[in-house]
Amino acid sequence: MRIAVYPGSFDPITNGHLDIIQRSSRLFDKLIVAVVKNPNKKPLFSIKERMMMIEKSIKDLSNVEIDYFEGLLVDFVSVKGAQVIVKGLRALSDFEYEFQMALLNRKLNTDIETIFMMTNYKYSFLSSSMVKEIASLKGSIADLVPEVIIQDIINKFSTK
Ligand code: PNS
Repeated sequence: MRIAVYPGSFDPITNGHLDIIQRSSRLFDKLIVAVVKNPNKKPLFSIKERMMMIEKSIKDLSNVEIDYFEGLLVDFVSVKGAQVIVKGLRALSDFEYEFQMALLNRKLNTDIETIFMMTNYKYSFLSSSMVKEIASLKGSIADLVPEVIIQDIINKFSTK
């Protein structure tokens, strides 16, 4: 069975992430969307909230699972019996960092391949940080994130 892992912070999931999930899920038997639990980063949404928002957004995709991990990504990938890491590339500015991570991950585990998908041009400008900034300033995040999670993001800022 071909299993791939799509890792990220997903703080929160955007339409750019969703596009990569939809497209890459067609290439594998199973796709695991893996939310990172990084003790050094301070996310806006908890792991539970981030996983819940992904869950709501991918209801129609039967071969996609959601999970979270701590520690090395390659260790999670191998525990899950997966062979591939999927990453999205938006622009040249993503390249250097992603190239470095792909090479280091290969050094850590030579059995795991990283594959890159070019983002849909519609979302090349989009990031979770921008979504948070716009929402915090009460701007419209319609078309930037899945419709089913818009209210969750608005609620987060209204309780802050
Ligand atoms: O959405 P992000 O924040 O760009 O995702 C980054 C992520 C989670 C893919 C990256 O930070 C990661 O793989 N973290 C796990 C720790 C690890 O394996 N580090 C070594 C990578 S070379």
